[in-house]
Amino acid sequence: MGETSTEFTQRERIPVGIFNSAELACREVADAIEALIRERDGADMPTVLGLATGSTPVGLYRELIRRHREGGLSFARVITFNLDEYYGLGGDHPESYRRFMQEQLFDHVDIEPENTHVPDGLVEREEVYGACRAYEEAIREAGGIDFQILGIGRTGHIGFNEPGSGPESRTRLVTLDSLTRRDAARDFLGEENVPRHAITMGIGTILEAKRIYLLAWGEAKAGVISQSVEEAPTDTVPAGFLQVHQDCRILVDHAAAAQLTRVRHPWLVGPVDWTPEMIRRAVLWLARKTGKALLKLVDEDYAENGMADLLTEQGSAYELNINIFNTPQHTITGWPGGKPEADDSHRPERADPFPKRVLVLSPEPMDDVYCMGGTLHRLANQGHELTVACQTSGSLAVPDPDLRRAVELLDEVARGQGGEKEAAFAASLRRQLVAKGQFGEDSRDLRYLKALIRRGEARASGRLLEVDADRLRFLDLPFYEQGRYRRFQPGKADVSIMAELLREIRPHQVFATGATHDPLSVHAICFLVLCQALDLCREEAWTRDCRIWLYRGPGAEWEAHEIDMAVPLSPDEFENKIQGIYQHQTQRSQSPSLDKGSSSNTWNLASLINRSAADTYDQLGLAEYEAIECFRKWVPDSWRD
Ligand code: GLP
Repeated sequence: MGETSTEFTQRERIPVGIFNSAELACREVADAIEALIRERDGADMPTVLGLATGSTPVGLYRELIRRHREGGLSFARVITFNLDEYYGLGGDHPESYRRFMQEQLFDHVDIEPENTHVPDGLVEREEVYGACRAYEEAIREAGGIDFQILGIGRTGHIGFNEPGSGPESRTRLVTLDSLTRRDAARDFLGEENVPRHAITMGIGTILEAKRIYLLAWGEAKAGVISQSVEEAPTDTVPAGFLQVHQDCRILVDHAAAAQLTRVRHPWLVGPVDWTPEMIRRAVLWLARKTGKALLKLVDEDYAENGMADLLTEQGSAYELNINIFNTPQHTITGWPGGKPEADDSHRPERADPFPKRVLVLSPEPMDDVYCMGGTLHRLANQGHELTVACQTSGSLAVPDPDLRRAVELLDEVARGQGGEKEAAFAASLRRQLVAKGQFGEDSRDLRYLKALIRRGEARASGRLLEVDADRLRFLDLPFYEQGRYRRFQPGKADVSIMAELLREIRPHQVFATGATHDPLSVHAICFLVLCQALDLCREEAWTRDCRIWLYRGPGAEWEAHEIDMAVPLSPDEFENKIQGIYQHQTQRSQSPSLDKGSSSNTWNLASLINRSAADTYDQLGLAEYEAIECFRKWVPDSWRD
């Protein structure tokens, strides 16, 4: 896909290519790298690549490995320099960038080990400056970087150049931003294990590369991408400094492009095709922008905000307002499973059948109550046949102090009451805990205990929401049990467990998360597994009477125009939901916040989100509620005729 500039891209200061998938974008980058290597090989010259780590370039590295194996692409004359490394980690640490590069690329191609450079994370403090200068010198000696690959962090960092890094910065030791550390917490099995410092190439170093490709996938990156591309560069979004480079491109998928003006508010930059969906989006945006209720918008509001042509097309603000007003109004319901024996022509969910067989999927325990606790309570309370399935055990997210408490409890019980066998088991758990140390992986027993802790929390939470323990299912999908964050490999076993559950329940409604912004996240993988299971079931009769509702996932909510069902909560119901979340004690400090710089913890973030959805409806001039949970209707492609 080319990056021709048009009126729609007028605000973009770096050429951006939007791709249908990360895979397609990676293929294009691989094409460019392959062409360069072949050209250089032909001229008997080395190719110098600047490489990045993180989830983003993984697809690119897989594609390069494939070309090496199947297309004879050789890396024998390639020299690489990585952007950064955590300070304090040796190359064999599972989260070190050296190890990452070995596993993701170097071990699978014919590159000479001495031609691969990653900053050394174990350099003595007093030698860091010298090592950084030597790194720069080595780049220069190699002839400079021909082709630099970049990802981008949610703080807008490239490499580890956090906000505050200027365009002149060079390779150096930096302190990591708290959001960056929080983002890495899962990889390191706890924020306390994430190093506080890193060594990174500077922005100045990066800008010297001859050609730069920055890649970004998923909606979590959408905000920083639009800031980097459309706003004047400042120290607060270091990637913005790429605007001064003469040969820089940004490659994104649709989700990461979502906040660019041409995608988000195309009517501000050019003529748009006013489909009903586009009208809904634009008018809801206009109400938010002007701070006016929908029915109070006047012709001038439309005209002054790039929507004059819509007015001409539709007549007047009055008609537009009324048409649009009905849509969000009809999303509101206190009957998420449908209201039995009621006229359902303007309700989001059908009245029949009643009761419904409802399957609620929670990627990890707590996602269900966190994102739809009030709705869950209503479904249970309104008499539906509810099953709540936790897809993964969630064991990886249990902090060690909570594990230690459980081990000690078991130990004490064993000493007080248990026989020899129990005491031996408890003692063995204690030993395993000691052996694991701070960075080690949990043994099978420890992980199992962590899973049990989370089951207990899920049951306690369910009790408050009137979801009996026998309605809860723990699928413990194998991809999670066998994996580590970012290294999950979902497979057939996961899909068949999921499909089996669907076939057993034959649901009339499925509630699941559609949070796919980070393709390597547990949420996205669980959704992928669900999609594949739904595909397997597509011919089965129950699918014709099944509706799928997506909740947005922890840390965010659907935007007004995306909402198909809004379930309001009274103050009491809302409080009950919050109490339900509190039962997940081990999750008290993990924050899935998507907001840059947000200091919210998991618990108060949930209430902020539900309250702000209620504020949105209130501000649009609909009813005023304490809190709202929102859902989007979704049909798998394979189910469409
Ligand atoms: C880390 C790395 C960056 C990378 C960023 C985004 O902070 N130092 O180089 O771009 O993470 O990571 P991901 O690609 O996993 O989103």
